[in-house]
Amino acid sequence: MRITHRSENAVSCCTRSAAETQALGRALGAVLAEGDVVAVSGPLGAGKTCFIQGLARGAGVTDNVTSPTFIIHRQHRGRVPFHHIDAYRLCGGEALLEAVGAELFSEPSIVGVEWADRVADALPDERLWVDLRYAADGRNVHVKADGTRARQILSALELSDDPGD
Ligand SMILES: Nc1ncnc2c1ncn2[C@@H]1O[C@H](COP(=O)(O)OP(=O)(O)OP(=O)(O)O)[C@@H](O)[C@H]1O
Ligand SMILES: [Mg+2]
Repeated sequence: MRITHRSENAVSCCTRSAAETQALGRALGAVLAEGDVVAVSGPLGAGKTCFIQGLARGAGVTDNVTSPTFIIHRQHRGRVPFHHIDAYRLCGGEALLEAVGAELFSEPSIVGVEWADRVADALPDERLWVDLRYAADGRNVHVKADGTRARQILSALELSDDPGD
């Protein structure tokens, strides 16, 4: 992947394959701990599931993480419980809390949310925001840290910059 920007509260990079999108997720998942929330956004087919598959792997999940669109919420066992939410069918934070339970974000677990922009008002203020966009050579991925803990995660994130050709 090619890193195009890195600061205390943001990282931007370009992933040129699904494997690179997963690798970025895995690197982030490796530095997450219980209580961390990763909000993922981007248009249809941008790579949100792909990224969360990597995130789960990095967080120690060994079973298969698939797209839960029709299910909304799946729980996996990792270093700590890992929750995968797909908010595609939800409109607003209230619908999310109704679907998954209001206590989800106060549990000692890691939560990854696809289509997080649809339920943003229910997400904790402390979170990482990952936005994926189509680019000519793959996907532009922008990672933004909201809050002290999120900035700490970002500073621990180890990425190898491969500028490619
Ligand atoms: N950097 C990349 N370059 C090219 N293809 C990619 C890249 N990252 C992911 N993909 C591919 O994009 C496709 C869509 O991925 P994925 O299903 O993860 O998207 P999604 O955002 O979850 O889709 P949906 O909006 O349906 O939930 C997959 O075929 C995946 O392999
Ligand atoms: Mg998906």
